[in-house]
Amino acid sequence: MLLSEIPVSGPWGERHLLGLEHLSADQLHTVLDLARHYDTATNGGSQRLDVLKGLVVANLFFENSTRTRTSFSLAARRLGADTVDFTASTSSLSKGETFIDTAQTIEAMGIDLVVCRHRSPGAPHLLARNLKAGVLNAGDGTHEHPTQGLLDIYTILKERGRIAGLTVALVGDIRHSRVARSNIHGLIALGARVIVCGPATLIPSDITRLGVEVAFNLDEILPEVDCVNLLRVQFERQRGAFFPSISEYAHLFGMNGDRIRRARENLLVLAPGPINRGVELTPEVADGPHSLILNQVTNGLFIRMACLTLLAQERRKEQEARR
Ligand code: NCD
Repeated sequence: MLLSEIPVSGPWGERHLLGLEHLSADQLHTVLDLARHYDTATNGGSQRLDVLKGLVVANLFFENSTRTRTSFSLAARRLGADTVDFTASTSSLSKGETFIDTAQTIEAMGIDLVVCRHRSPGAPHLLARNLKAGVLNAGDGTHEHPTQGLLDIYTILKERGRIAGLTVALVGDIRHSRVARSNIHGLIALGARVIVCGPATLIPSDITRLGVEVAFNLDEILPEVDCVNLLRVQFERQRGAFFPSISEYAHLFGMNGDRIRRARENLLVLAPGPINRGVELTPEVADGPHSLILNQVTNGLFIRMACLTLLAQERRKEQEARR
């Protein structure tokens, strides 16, 4: 199947995917519909397509990653693209080359799409301004992680058939979580009720401006929620102590068997991973029937296939217009 033959259900028109903040509900549906197409058309992802044949996708990861990096590489390859992997620690960055010079060097090799993860918020935006390639944000500091937001939403949608009207609780380190921000923008645009819940020190005071409700007591909100998304405490981004001890955090905000028994019978439990067993959730919950953690990983592949396709189509249109 050719790139131009891929069924796109609604509007897109974006050269880059930097965040979910400015995407409309229709654009979000376009990605989700295309992910669903790949989910079914590739028989769960096992079948290889040649939609992106001749295109080169570069993974530029300046921060550690297991799932996201592997998922993007696999998604690109499943669509027939060539991939180039770049790791900050083994590159000329360690010889003093600037971020933009490194990126321009890579682009000069004929790269079409760049997947970028960086510890600084806004790094992918800087790339987007300086490169001709399409840029996908794979997580920029505490800012956004759009494909994670999309795959979380797709996972809920697959289970429930809708997003509008559902109540989703994002629990944990909201302050330092890029996953929280992308979830909030996407879920609110699609009509969900979003509650952020965690220790007061880990919830920004102006977060309600994004359209969410705030709760400091998980047990109070639990009976109302359809889905909990358990966000990891981002110790590596914290300066100072935000709560007294990990065991106290787990006691107040961790998902355990007791809380599962008090929640709705069909509660969905999500966690972007990596998970800290015994902190955000107990093994009983992580491996139990409510957990969708591994479904999220599988669904991530379809979401990334969809995002790569949409940006590749946009790039193709631009190249044709220039001719
Ligand atoms: C998340 C990330 O890196 O932002 N992980 C991921 O992409 N699956 C969440 C996290 O690190 O806690």
